[in-house]
Amino acid sequence: MPALNGMQHTRVRRSVGNMFDRNTLPVLRVSIEKTVEKLLDRLTGELRDGEADFSSIVSEELPMSAIGGWLQLPPADYPLLRSLAHDQVFTQELLPSASQLARSDAATEQLEAYFRRLVQERRRAPGDDPVSAWLRTWDGLESDQEAADEAVYLLALLVFLAAPETTATLLSTMVWLLLEHPLQLGWLRAHPQHIPDAVEEVLRYDSPNQVISRIATADTTLAGVPIEKDRMVHLMVGAANHDPAHHLDPHIFDVRRKASHLSFSGGIHYCLGAQLARLEATTLLTGLLRRLPGLRVSAAPVWAPRVGFRRIMELRVARS
Ligand code: HEM
Repeated sequence: MPALNGMQHTRVRRSVGNMFDRNTLPVLRVSIEKTVEKLLDRLTGELRDGEADFSSIVSEELPMSAIGGWLQLPPADYPLLRSLAHDQVFTQELLPSASQLARSDAATEQLEAYFRRLVQERRRAPGDDPVSAWLRTWDGLESDQEAADEAVYLLALLVFLAAPETTATLLSTMVWLLLEHPLQLGWLRAHPQHIPDAVEEVLRYDSPNQVISRIATADTTLAGVPIEKDRMVHLMVGAANHDPAHHLDPHIFDVRRKASHLSFSGGIHYCLGAQLARLEATTLLTGLLRRLPGLRVSAAPVWAPRVGFRRIMELRVARS
């Protein structure tokens, strides 16, 4: 879907509709709230012994469980799928090394096999899950069952890949930034109605995805810069989100700002999972404010050495 244009893109995007709308979100909210409570129980338990890694205990688990639960994947598969998603993402880096690309290729092969098998299973035994629903839709769009299966396989793979890594980064970044700004955290505890604004400010201040790319289909001029046909253009999301022409004091993190940003892109490719990511972040922050008032960062976060997709590998926290 991200590589399609015009009518081809419209056809695929329409086939999934608004995946996280007013009907689906309340159902997902219930299971996400339960998962947040379970993960915070685990974090609280670990913190009794001193420090704990917020990233592996909470941030990596919540998005995997949310997307895995929605797609009705077996929870026993989550660890493998998560690790394959982490490896696959190198292919979307700006300048991946040969060994990173090899890792990405190997992960892609395994993911392909996994999601092709999933489509075949849902074909044999359809249920009330999104993959079965997409199969029903695509059977009406394609005369050939193989073509329908291929379209649904690509959708399932895309939706899976788009979700866990980006959202895990949002969750860790959110907790890190707020713990580093205790006055704002305290204000938020007193004004929980502004939790959604805080999530938008985190997305603006440090976007999980830093590069959005396009290829010019014709000679054009963009903001006064001539661009030839077939040239690739990279939008640097962090720079756009910190553009002083659009944001007052852009380098100041301020949860009270009504932040606008390009972290979910814009136009026809606007992120289809934005509402799910927001739901996970607001639910987690609500739970954290209620349950862990004395949380603090106990060591500098460890970031993966990457440009396109940010990733906090480790976020050590403790209780005061
Ligand atoms: C904080 C979390 C997330 C961030 C920062 C993010 C970011 C983005 C961005 C920047 C794009 C557009 C890329 C482009 O314009 O070329 C995009 C597209 C997309 N995202 Fe997300 N995403 C997140 C979470 C999710 C989740 C949870 C899902 C699914 C459950 C998802 C599904 C998609 C899909 C299907 C597209 C393709 C849309 C299209 O091409 O029409 N994303 N996302």
